[in-house]
Amino acid sequence: MASHPVPRPTRQTSIEALYRRPRVADAASVHALVESCKPLDLNSPYAYLLLCSHFYETCAVGEASGSLLGFISGYLKPDDRSVLFVWQVAVSRQARGQGVGTRLLHELLNRPACSGVSFLETTVTPSNAPSRAMFRSFARARHADCIETALFQREDFGDNGHEHEEEQLLRIGPLNNTRNRGEVNR
Ligand SMILES: CC(C)(COP(=O)(O)OP(=O)(O)OC[C@H]1O[C@@H](n2cnc3c(N)ncnc32)[C@H](O)[C@@H]1OP(=O)(O)O)[C@@H](O)C(=O)NCCC(=O)NCCS
Repeated sequence: MASHPVPRPTRQTSIEALYRRPRVADAASVHALVESCKPLDLNSPYAYLLLCSHFYETCAVGEASGSLLGFISGYLKPDDRSVLFVWQVAVSRQARGQGVGTRLLHELLNRPACSGVSFLETTVTPSNAPSRAMFRSFARARHADCIETALFQREDFGDNGHEHEEEQLLRIGPLNNTRNRGEVNR
């Protein structure tokens, strides 16, 4: 994937939005939102149905005036449930730069289901500056380290490897979930 510079959005006041667990009824809107959020990989409608039904405790949506403006998907790693792996974060174009993405991250970490989480992991492609900036901002807010290492190489994506950048692992922590809960109101 080519690297395109993305203009840094102007910081505005936080959007008045409701942040909550997703429901099955959200899955189609989540699919449409992710489709509009390049460079995210678009998964099948069925995948978003599973996320909204089986993984609702580690996924969240943000909505305002009845419209979905953000979505985050994640899961507790099966072999280490002290790690929350964040899969996708999508914020509608018109809502970007207003703290929605960061707020979705705090929303997950502040849930009882994540009370045992001490590290957040995710992957970012080298060209995705907004994503890297959001996760690093989250780490700063939680006074946590953010360590970046190689995870998936282009060839790991098989035949489509020429179309997919490598994915770097970001590991953020240790997280103290009783600290900085006020950040959720930013
Ligand atoms: C990445 C994304 C989720 C960020 O959401 P957002 O709501 O705009 O992010 P926030 O407003 O919470 O900003 C978080 C931090 O990132 C910074 N940031 C956001 N967009 C940026 C950009 N284009 N360039 C540089 N920094 C940026 C903000 O300034 C802020 O930093 P600060 O707290 O130090 O001021 C959003 O741009 C998006 O949906 N992109 C398309 C899909 C994608 O790439 N998802 C991430 C991969 S999983």
